[in-house]
Amino acid sequence: MSPVNNKQIYSTVEFDAWAYGENLLDEEKYLIETYLSKEGKTLEAGTGGGRILLEMKKMGFKSLYGYDYMPEYIEQAQQKDSESSVCFAVQDATQLKYADSSFDQIIYLQQIISSIEDRVGRSKAIQQAYRVLKKQGIGLFSFLCLDSRMHSVKYLPFLMYLNTTRKLRGSHHSLHYLPWLKLGGRPNWNALCDRKPYMYWYSLHEAVQALTTVGFTIIAIGSSYQMQQRQMYASHESLVDEPLKGMLYCVCQKN
Ligand SMILES: C[S@@+](CC[C@H](N)C(=O)[O-])C[C@H]1O[C@@H](n2cnc3c(N)ncnc32)[C@H](O)[C@@H]1O
Repeated sequence: MSPVNNKQIYSTVEFDAWAYGENLLDEEKYLIETYLSKEGKTLEAGTGGGRILLEMKKMGFKSLYGYDYMPEYIEQAQQKDSESSVCFAVQDATQLKYADSSFDQIIYLQQIISSIEDRVGRSKAIQQAYRVLKKQGIGLFSFLCLDSRMHSVKYLPFLMYLNTTRKLRGSHHSLHYLPWLKLGGRPNWNALCDRKPYMYWYSLHEAVQALTTVGFTIIAIGSSYQMQQRQMYASHESLVDEPLKGMLYCVCQKN
């Protein structure tokens, strides 16, 4: 049976990838080493099997918390953390139970916000992230980036095809909503029929607006391309004329 929403995707065909993954991506390592403090109380959203937090523990981070809305992931994470040194919990990003200003730093990487299907849910998740962060605290976010896809020779034909078929079907979905192109490491042929569930692909401007509207200040921003060059920008205006490739990464501070 085809999955009807992203939660079902994470609980089935994508489960193994995120429950048993290991090591940090180069981009994650760079952001964590550059912007986070080992002494700070740190929360990771959508921790899956705890890959990022367990690597951070090895790096010497002392106070680590992570949540995921799927109990099966949290069980895996707890099993891997034999010393129970990380505080894992089952929670939903849109309605967190942590008290206001609980954390010095928060990690919203691997596009957790983009996986929330509805606009209100995405907005609530960003508001909750802001609420649980202390003043002057740092947040690391990543988003699926529509501008990157639009400028990719590889993906543009598919976007044009989708745009045309949606028009012909009278579908009102914008190209911000895109089906998964791969599932469990294999091509998702259902994408050709524009089958849901969708992920939400942010434009640069929209991602910045979503963060600044709740009160965050962007202190560094760049796509995977800029991260590889170790050249993040202080504002999105400086990034507008630069190539955007891969994910969009934002480092924010709570005012
Ligand atoms: C792409 S996986 C990343 C897992 C882990 N952060 C990593 O990088 O290895 C996204 C994770 O976010 C979780 N997730 C998605 N939406 C969520 C929500 N609204 N609340 C809590 N967790 C969510 C999924 O269950 C999944 O484990």
